[in-house]
Amino acid sequence: MGIEILHDRCLSCECCVSACRRYIFRMGGKGKIEIDQNLLPLCMHCGHCTAVCPGEAIVLDGVPSASLPELPANLGLSPDALMLFLKSKRSVGAYSSREVPREVLEKALDAANYAPSARGAHPVRWVVITEPANRERLLQEMLPYYEHAEDVTSRSHYENYLKGVDSLLRYAPCIVLACAPEHVYGEADCVSAATYLSLALYAQGVASCWAGSILALTRQGSLKSVAVPEGCEAYAALMVGYPDENFLKLPHRPDPVVTFM
Ligand SMILES: Cc1cc2nc3c(=O)[nH]c(=O)nc-3n(C[C@H](O)[C@H](O)[C@H](O)COP(=O)(O)O)c2cc1C
Repeated sequence: MGIEILHDRCLSCECCVSACRRYIFRMGGKGKIEIDQNLLPLCMHCGHCTAVCPGEAIVLDGVPSASLPELPANLGLSPDALMLFLKSKRSVGAYSSREVPREVLEKALDAANYAPSARGAHPVRWVVITEPANRERLLQEMLPYYEHAEDVTSRSHYENYLKGVDSLLRYAPCIVLACAPEHVYGEADCVSAATYLSLALYAQGVASCWAGSILALTRQGSLKSVAVPEGCEAYAALMVGYPDENFLKLPHRPDPVVTFM
């Protein structure tokens, strides 16, 4: 762990100096970039220094800048297409039983790893339920809470179940929970990562929807079928699967409420 500057490659351009959030790099007296050893313990391991270095002169935690994947100068995505991508991502409420391949999930989880996390801590631990028996166990564990719920909406899920309608898991073949150690930013980190995950799934044609129902019961420790990692709390839950509905229009949304100052 640590930062090494390969001085024979360094262009002294100071890109690392401006990129580092912790001001760990500085221009030394002889025109050579130096590392401030006092500030080094503040390193977030975000890799920004390695990603901006045009000389590929930095090795962070043993990973040389030269080994990182290249970014094209232009991602080739039009702003309009991207806006439509964001706006058209719906919380899907009906899923087909078609399984989501492991590679598709792994690709999305890899993208979610690039979500912002406080202090670059990347604390999220995922729980992914895909085994049909485990999914069924989860549903069966949830039902009694809805049978005896006080509010009408919650009780309606149990009544739907009796009518043969799965309004709790919405037939989704896959359930994903984002967990993190209890920390002031644990929830924000999980929400950030789960949002990236849902968009990365959508990019691959896979739908998702927040599962407040699963999250609430997991948070109150009522579900044995969800293996929340030791010392962690669940902060986000998603139903995931191929959609069994087709949106033809963008639904209306209220205008954003903004105070520009
Ligand atoms: C924190 C949170 C919890 C939610 N919980 C559920 C849920 O338990 N079941 C469900 O069907 N949808 C759930 N949703 C999805 C919302 O109902 C959905 O966002 C809303 O209907 C609007 O749809 P849209 O996201 O496609 O615009 C949840 C959304 C959020 C943000």
